[in-house]
Amino acid sequence: GKQNLHQFTDILIIGGGIAGLRAALEVPPTMEALVITKEHIRESNSAYAQGGIAGVLSPEDRFENHIEDTHAAGAGLCDPEVVDLVVREAPAQIHDLVRWGTIFDLEDGHLALTREGGHSHRRIVHALGDATGQEMMRAIIARVKQAPNISVWDSTFTIDLLTMDGACVGAVVSRAGAKVLIWAKQVILAAGGCGMVYRETTNPPVATGDGMAAAYRAGAELRDMEFMQFHPTVLYVAGSARYLISEAVRGEGAYLRDVNGERFMLAEDKRAELLPRDIVSQAIFRCMERTQHPNVYLDLTHLDPVRVRERFPGINRVCRNFGLDITKDRIPVRPGAHYMIGGVTVDTHGATTIPNLWAAGEVTSSGLHGANRLASNSLLEGLVYGAICARNAIAAAKTMPTQMIAHPIQCKIDPDLPVEDIDVEDVTNSLRSLMVRKMGIVRDRARLEEAKRDVNFWCRYVLPREFQHRQGWELQNLLILARLMIDAAIRREESRGTHYRSDFPARNDSQWGNRLPSPLVKDLR
Ligand code: SIN
Repeated sequence: GKQNLHQFTDILIIGGGIAGLRAALEVPPTMEALVITKEHIRESNSAYAQGGIAGVLSPEDRFENHIEDTHAAGAGLCDPEVVDLVVREAPAQIHDLVRWGTIFDLEDGHLALTREGGHSHRRIVHALGDATGQEMMRAIIARVKQAPNISVWDSTFTIDLLTMDGACVGAVVSRAGAKVLIWAKQVILAAGGCGMVYRETTNPPVATGDGMAAAYRAGAELRDMEFMQFHPTVLYVAGSARYLISEAVRGEGAYLRDVNGERFMLAEDKRAELLPRDIVSQAIFRCMERTQHPNVYLDLTHLDPVRVRERFPGINRVCRNFGLDITKDRIPVRPGAHYMIGGVTVDTHGATTIPNLWAAGEVTSSGLHGANRLASNSLLEGLVYGAICARNAIAAAKTMPTQMIAHPIQCKIDPDLPVEDIDVEDVTNSLRSLMVRKMGIVRDRARLEEAKRDVNFWCRYVLPREFQHRQGWELQNLLILARLMIDAAIRREESRGTHYRSDFPARNDSQWGNRLPSPLVKDLR
C-alpha cells in the first residue's frame, strides 16, 4: 500500500494560539517540541482578542474580588479550586508576558487597567488600545521562533489523534497534500474553539472545533457542550465580516440603545451595560424582538472623542471603513457566537481522560468559566493551563524510553462508502444557519428537537465519508460538535448562564447544579 510518512517528537502541541505557544515555551532545551497549526501561526482566536487579560494588579483590588466576580458570572457552575488557581496565577503570567516583550498600554508608568462586564474592579491589561491579542502573540511568536528546540509546522491539519491501548501516542495530520503520522511521547491539545458552528460569530474561519471532535472520536470525555457564549456586540452591517466590538467600549462608558434611542439595559439592573454578558446578550435578543429590528446600537457619542479614537484605534478604523464615525454615529451591533465554554474535560493538572493527552485553553472544559465566562478570563486560562499542561507533560515524557517506535497502523475503509461527492459548502452553510435559528440565545425543546433531527440526518451521509480535503473534515467536526451541543441543550431543562430555555426559564440548582459530560459514542454515524 501507500507509504505513510513518519515524524517523531517528544511533545506534540496541537494549536498555535496562546495556550499552545505558552505550553511550548515551557519545554526545556533538552527536549523537542513540535507545534502544529492548521493555517498560519498568526491565525487564531487569541490573535484577534481585543479586550485583554484579567488579573489582580491594582492595589485597590484583591484576589477575592476576582474570584467572586468569576463565580458570579459563572452562575453556580465554576469549580472553586480551578478559579482560585487561575486567579492567583494571573499576575505572574502577565509579568512573564511583559518579560517576553509584550508592550501593554501604560498609564502614569503603570499597566493601564480597564473594566469589562461582570468585573467589580479595573483589572484588565490591554495593548495597542484594542489589539491586545495581536501584540501579545507577536511577542510570544518571536520568542517561540528563537527557541532551537521548538519547531512549528504551519498549514498542518490534524485529522485524528492516534491511540494505542487507550493512551495517546500522536496524531495523523495532513500536510502539503500528504498524510503524516506524528509519534509523540506526550500530546498537548490546544486547538481552540468552534465559533464557526454558527453563521454569526466573532471567530476566524479556522475555529471549527477540530481538536474537540478529534478528542471525542478518540474517546475523551467532553463536557458543558450546551454553553456557547454569545458576545453581545458584534458589528452588524451588510458587507462586513462579523467584527467584534470589544466589551471594553462599554467598560469605558458606552451605552446600548434600541432603535428608538432608549437605553434598555437600565431596566435590567443598575449595572446596566456592565452586567455579565449572558444577561446583556439575552436582553438585546428580547429588545430586538420587541422593537422588531435586527440590531441594537452602541453609543459612544457622549464620550471624549479624542480619548475614544486613541483608546480604540482598531474599532475606529473598521467602522470608518463602513462610513461610521464612532465618536458621532451609533454603531449597529447584535450578539454573535464568541467563546465555547464546553470542551475536553481536564483536571487541575491539565490531564484529559485519555492517558498521555493533555489539553489547555478554549478546547477544554476546565471548570473555570462555569455557565458563563467572565470577560478576559480566557487568555488568562490559556496561559495558566498551557504552562501547567506542559510541566506535567514534560515530567511524564522524562519517564519514557528515549527510543520511540512507529506502530503499525490499520486503516479500515468500508467498501460500501458512498462515492458521490456532496456539496460540502452547502451543508456547512445550512448547519450554521440552523444553529443560529434553533440553538441560539433563546432555546426551547420543540426547536431543539427539530435541530437535532436535521443534524442527525446530515450526519448520516456526511460522517461515513472519506474526505481528502480540509473543508470535508471541518464539516464532519462541526456536525459532531453541533450534535453534542444540541443534545446537551435538550438535556439541561433549566436556564443558567449562556444556556437559556424559554420553556424552563428558571435556574434549578437542586437538579442541574452540576457540569454534564457528553455521553461517549460507540458509532458516530
Ligand atoms: C472583548 O474585547 O469584548 C472580548 C473580551 C473577551 O471575550 O474576554
